[in-house]
Amino acid sequence: MEKLYEEALKAYHNSYSPYSRYKVGASILLSDGKIINGCNVENASYGLTNCAERTALFYAFSQGYRKEDIKKLLVIADGRPASPCGACRQVLVELMNPDAEVILTNLNKEVKILKVKELLPYYFSGEDLNEL
Ligand code: THU
Repeated sequence: MEKLYEEALKAYHNSYSPYSRYKVGASILLSDGKIINGCNVENASYGLTNCAERTALFYAFSQGYRKEDIKKLLVIADGRPASPCGACRQVLVELMNPDAEVILTNLNKEVKILKVKELLPYYFSGEDLNEL
């Protein structure tokens, strides 16, 4: 957890957030022990902003990892422990296992630990489309 925290903090400092000035870092622990980081990347066209959680998850998938490879996601922001937005929650249920751990934390190291399925009850998924 300490290593994952330190990595997420590095990503937090890499945040590109000139508009909101709200920095977010995310780190993914993979089953091979590797850690992948992401930060929020904003845009003058605000809607094009990418959240830290999605940056990290999309990067992991781009490297060939899949949901069964993802053990934990840690998210850090300043203020209350980081709380993933609704869009990110929907992406989490698609790209992570429902029982995978999500650690929400902040610069004071306050921690809240939840499962993916607890972040988005009654979630919509590929099963609803008879795809998976
Ligand atoms: N943000 C994240 O990166 N993750 C979240 O879960 C919540 C919001 C970012 C998006 C935007 O750059 C800034 O925080 C303010 O909304």
